This record gives sequence, C-alpha cells and structure tokens, in this order.
Amino acid sequence: MEKFVINGGTELHGTVNISGAKNAAVAIIPAAVLCDDICVIENIPSSISDVVMMMRMLESIGAKVSLRNKSTIEIDSRTIHSDSVNYEFTKHLRASYYLLGALLGRYSHAKVAMPGGCDLGVRPIDQHIKGFEALGAQVNIEENAIVDAHAEELRGGPVYLDVVSVGATINIMLAAVKAKGMTVIENAAKEPHIVDLANFLNTMGADIRGAGTDTIKIRGVESLHGCTYSIIPDQIEAGTYMLAAAATNGDVIINNVIPKHLESISTKLLECGVKVEEYDECIRVCGNGRINRCNIKTMPHPGFPTDMQPQMAVLLSVAKGTSIISEGIWENRYRYVEQLLRMGASIKVDGKLAVIEGVEYLKGAPVRADDLRAGAAMIIAGLMAHGTTEIEDILHIDRGYENVVEKLTGLGADIQRIDVPDPTGIRNAG
Ligand code: EPU
Repeated sequence: MEKFVINGGTELHGTVNISGAKNAAVAIIPAAVLCDDICVIENIPSSISDVVMMMRMLESIGAKVSLRNKSTIEIDSRTIHSDSVNYEFTKHLRASYYLLGALLGRYSHAKVAMPGGCDLGVRPIDQHIKGFEALGAQVNIEENAIVDAHAEELRGGPVYLDVVSVGATINIMLAAVKAKGMTVIENAAKEPHIVDLANFLNTMGADIRGAGTDTIKIRGVESLHGCTYSIIPDQIEAGTYMLAAAATNGDVIINNVIPKHLESISTKLLECGVKVEEYDECIRVCGNGRINRCNIKTMPHPGFPTDMQPQMAVLLSVAKGTSIISEGIWENRYRYVEQLLRMGASIKVDGKLAVIEGVEYLKGAPVRADDLRAGAAMIIAGLMAHGTTEIEDILHIDRGYENVVEKLTGLGADIQRIDVPDPTGIRNAG
C-alpha cells in the first residue's frame, strides 16, 4: 500500500511545469478511433493512470498504441477490429464512455459497459443517450449494464441538453462527426477540453464550429484522416499548484499554462489577497500572509470549476473569517471534509453548502484521498499543516496528477511516496 508522507510548513518556491490536460487526453485518445489512420498526440500526460487505462482500452479493441517519448503517443487505428469494451476496463474511469460515441461514430454500433470513475454522487448518462437517439441510434441498457447503441445510419439532428454536461457534449460530438448532415448541440458545455477536442477533430478533417460557446454545429463529413496534435495544458493541475503556492505563502511560477483558462481561479485568489501575475504562458502566485475569506459557487465553465472546490476549501479553512462554498455540479463532493476536520478545520456541510470558519492553522494527521480532487486537497492541506500528514489511497491522486512528488519536491516541499504494508490486512475498510 502506497502513501504520501508530507512534513508541512515549507513555503513553495520556484517553477513548476504543467502537464497536458487529463480531461482533454481522455477525450482525444478515443476520438482517434474515428479515422483509419495514424494520429500522433503530443503533450500527453502519459504516466497518469486514467490516460494509461484509456490507451489500454484502445489496444483492447485492436488499435496499436505506442509511446514516441514520454509526452507523445502514436495511435494506429487501422487495426481496430471490435466495437465492444467490457467492464474490466470501463470500471476504472468515467471517460471510458467516450468509446461509445467514438465507436458509434466509426461503426454505427457500439457496446460499452457502464463506466466507473470518482464517486461524486449519481452520475447519470441520460443526456448522452438523448444525443445518440437524436442522431437516429437505438440505445438499450442490457444485462450487466452494457450500453448497446446502434443505428442503420447516423443522421445529424438538433440536440438540446437539459443539463450542461461535459461528457454528453463530447460523446455527441464524437458520434456526430461522421453522421449525415448537420447536428446542432444547444446548451453545450464550454470547458477548454471541449474546444480542444473540436480542434483535434477539425485537424482530422471534421467540420465543427462554435465549440466554446453554448451552440456547437457539427456538419458530418465522409471520412477523417490522421494528424499530429498537441493537447492543451491541464487547467485543474495548474489551479492546484496555484492554490498550493498560496496555501504555503510561497512564490511559484506555474509554467506552460493558458492564463485565460485560469481566470476564475486567479480572480478568487486576488479576492483572498494573494498576488497573481499573468504572463503569456505562465502565472506567478505569491502568498501575502494569512488569506482573506471569500465565497465560492461552482459552475460550468467559465464559472469556478467544481474540480477545484476541495482544494479551495483547504485554503479557506485557514482564512480570516467565514467562507461559504456552494457546490453547483455534484451532489456528493464534500466527503473530504471529514478528513479536514481530523486536521483541525472547522467546516459544516448542509446539502450543497459548506460553511468554513477559518482557523489559525491545520495540524498534520493521517488522512485518506476519497477521490482525485479530494486527494489533491489533502496534499495542499498536508503542505500547509503543522507537523506530518500521511495520505492513504493515493491511487486516486495518481489518476490525474503527473509526477506530483517530483514536481512538489522541485518547489521545496517535503513529500515522499512510501510503500508500507497495511497493518490491518484490510483494504478500504471505511
Ligand atoms: N448529468 C446528467 N445527465 C447526464 C450527464 C450529466 O444529469 O447524462 C449531470 C451530472 O450528474 C452532473 C452534471 O450533469 O450533475 C455535470 O456532469 P458532466 O457530464 O458535465 O460531468 P462529467 O462529464 O461526468 C467531467 C469531468 C469531471 C468534472 C465534470 C464537471 C471528465 C473526464 N470528467 O465529468 O472531472 O467534475 O465534468 O466539470 O472530463 C475530475 O477530473 O476530477 C472530474 C471528476
């Protein structure tokens, strides 16, 4: 069993390079199955486990996936021979359902087991299904929760999303890109990785307009071709290091970022009294003593991202005064609060609201990473706490943060990954 052990209290200083975006990578890798050709994808965070699993899934349907170097992969889709992905693969990550849209787009039929992923409450796929049906597909959920989608011929059509969904927007784009005629997605998600996927597909010869607005128009094309494409930097990894710099009262340059993607985070840090300087491809974050309180409401892009909510709660747990967080996307994103209470935080949760009374400091304690971003929050808590924090269940963190120990150590943090036998012999008893 691996753990992180962090001796807190060190101010972070220096420069950290941000990796390619996980949530763009896990959409763009399956998108490569839409052509019968070779795609070269650069700036891939190839060592995080969600990306590794997505590459394995492509191999399981016959694609040849190889690493050209540690951030460039080559996908040869000419050898794909299957339209089915089973639960042994899909249980590991939510994004596995992008193979439904991509294989449906390639073959007009696909069978993919319902996905796993972080437990953030109910995660329905009704909007994905609504979109596939609008393209003329029949969708059945079979025994063993296998989603079977098939069509005689996919035909473009209008789709209005009842909720703004990143996953549904991506899946519908994937299925529609080679459908006959025009698909119009209204109330589409606008996250940076939606735009990145559209740019990738357009580089492959697709005709997609409006990505990044709430109306996306996709004119189906006959075929797509291979290409070379470099994915965007990871907005949430960058935001996590910005908050780690602020939380430790440090001075860090976060390099290889698109500052525009980080505006909602920069704005909140400025409101808290932290110094933030924007440059073309980097952001400098300097602590400025104890931070001021602020309120946060998570919303779809360009609002404050839900994937930064746990990390922000850690920062606010030591702010001057009382802050209120309102979670606008997920119903179950406060599980980490129990861990922060063990470290001396004062937080009360009521449904989608969390009321945080700032305390002077957090104390190191043994804690758990309940999910990916909760794990990132525990790291920030450990970095700023007095004493030693041990974080269990770090496999969640490895899903989305590339070389996190190396990157933090490079900034002066005292963090180690250690392998310890589980003294109880029981895994995940809680
Ligand atoms: N929703 C529905 N029906 C659907 C789809 C979604 O009701 O068919 C609801 C969800 O229950 C939720 C809301 O719509 O309340 C938004 O869900 P969305 O579909 O946008 O989320 P997702 O695509 O499953 C992606 C990210 C998450 C991130 C959310 C919100 C990926 C692989 N995952 O999830 O990232 O929290 O968007 O921004 O892109 C993470 O990286 O840690 C992570 C969980």
